[in-house]
Amino acid sequence: MSTAAARKRVGVLISGRGSNMVSLAEAARGPDYPAEIALVISNIPDVAGLDRARGFGIATATIDHRPFGKDREAFERAVDELLRVNQIDLLVLAGFMRILTPWFVKRWEGRMINIHPSLLPLFKGTHTHRQALEAGVAEHGCSVHFVVPELDAGPVILQAKVPVLPGDDEDLLSARVLVEEHKLYPAALAEVASGRARLVDGVVVRG
Ligand code: GRF
Repeated sequence: MSTAAARKRVGVLISGRGSNMVSLAEAARGPDYPAEIALVISNIPDVAGLDRARGFGIATATIDHRPFGKDREAFERAVDELLRVNQIDLLVLAGFMRILTPWFVKRWEGRMINIHPSLLPLFKGTHTHRQALEAGVAEHGCSVHFVVPELDAGPVILQAKVPVLPGDDEDLLSARVLVEEHKLYPAALAEVASGRARLVDGVVVRG
């Protein structure tokens, strides 16, 4: 069987510009990359990331969360069904701005990863660059982790660090971190898709 035939089919959930999704799509062009980006789903209509995905020839869909109101699980069932129909093996969150229910997280446990712009467990939640500046840390960065029900608390697969420099503001710092995100996420997805990093009993097992 060729490497290409063994590739994992990856779904990417986005809510915006999709620059991390682009970094994954670019990596997946490599003949030896163990995953293909098979589907990009946005919960927000007409975001830039959808156009960018189509530019790679990737199938896209929008499942607007708003008609589902407070019923998060109903929204997730629609997403889950689309992933099933498209035979998605692994799910990647890339700037997806919805909190997922324990039901969905359990369904995708060990098969769903997220990128978070901080050195977890530091600075969970939003405005991570502001949090880092306010805390006065010398180093900041990003983490790719398996998703567990508790927000930003999943076992870390890979991290990348950047220095916090004199004169930094949120924009400067986030741009420096984003450069690292775009290298880290393809590397981490390759680890998971190849089976070199697995979630076993709540911890990352390698090799
Ligand atoms: C990234 O900083 C990512 O770490 C965070 O949301 C941002 C998404 O950016 N979860 P993009 O949509 O991938 O450009």
